[in-house]
Amino acid sequence: MDRLITNLTEEQKQKVWKSIKDKTVAVIGYGNQGRSQALNMHDNGLNVIIGNVKDKYAEQAEKDGFKVYSIDEAAKKGDILFILIPDEIQPKVFEQDISKNIKEGSTIIFASGYNYYYGLVNVPEKANVLMIAPRMIGFGIRDLFLKGQGFPVLIAVGKDYTKDAEDQLLALTDAIGVFKPNGVAVRSSFREETLVDLLTEHTWAGAILYIFRAYYEVATELGASPEAVILELYASGELEEIARSMKEQGLFKQLKNHSRTSQYGQLTRGPKFADERIKEIIKNEAMDILNGAFAKEWTLEMQSGFIHFNKLYELATEHPMEKEEEKLYRTLGRKK
Ligand code: NAI
Repeated sequence: MDRLITNLTEEQKQKVWKSIKDKTVAVIGYGNQGRSQALNMHDNGLNVIIGNVKDKYAEQAEKDGFKVYSIDEAAKKGDILFILIPDEIQPKVFEQDISKNIKEGSTIIFASGYNYYYGLVNVPEKANVLMIAPRMIGFGIRDLFLKGQGFPVLIAVGKDYTKDAEDQLLALTDAIGVFKPNGVAVRSSFREETLVDLLTEHTWAGAILYIFRAYYEVATELGASPEAVILELYASGELEEIARSMKEQGLFKQLKNHSRTSQYGQLTRGPKFADERIKEIIKNEAMDILNGAFAKEWTLEMQSGFIHFNKLYELATEHPMEKEEEKLYRTLGRKK
């Protein structure tokens, strides 16, 4: 089985689409992912309905021409259920509105591995469970679709009750618009998706914020102006260009776009931030993800009403750098 799928042949398409045609697709949630995936599937000829609480998202779905039902009604009507509400509310919504209404042989699709991997959602035995986890923000999914472009996703079969879950997985991946130029489906698992997703957040994504802050403190102590530092670090947009070059040319190959002095500096000093100690930290974080320690911590945090989380955010945004950023962004017209 190929790990990467960039396209389906006409023959494959005809075979796999048989498993979903004539079925009702209920998209539960019409936010970032829900709206884009629902519109793409509708444009690809599927019968799509929306399940949503009464709010601005439901209004948007109606405006876009969809029939909107309450979540429990949509769960009853749908043969295929896309669960596109925030991860942290899925367990409760499953408990209250979804689990008991799922028909035998239905298919549940998650856009992230988290809840199913940790057993936080109660999915009945009699249903298929799939994962189609986009590596793309919701808006991008619709925008690329309209431009005739695909996007990357991680896909997996969690449970094959009807014995055609694999066909449904490929057909639905096609239906949301993945198999267009530049799109790719990577065969994965709920475990892998959970690991790589959280490990990003628990290592470099968080670290970069605090490395920037440490840099700011050192440079300003040495007399650099806050404006020069903040522009240097992220406000100029150079970081965005580097990220784009990484995507297009490769992680290290993009170094060639920088001056020789810069390349030399990065290649000699960069490894200091990836020594054995750092690898140990990454490994410990990975273990906390796989053994459920982080998930447990986060569940407790949610149950406490986010007390610690809110405090951390407050503390982070009280730093003097934040005030300087605010001033700079006002001058640049990015903030009022
Ligand atoms: P979102 O935050 O845009 O969800 C909004 C939707 O959730 C709305 O339809 C709203 O009515 C509904 N909702 C909010 N609170 C609710 C409640 N208490 N009860 C019932 N419905 C409620 O969600 P988003 O970001 O689209 O995420 C959906 C799934 O997609 C998640 O599993 C997420 O991990 C995954 N995902 C999200 C990505 C993104 O770009 N945001 C990228 C890849 C995956």
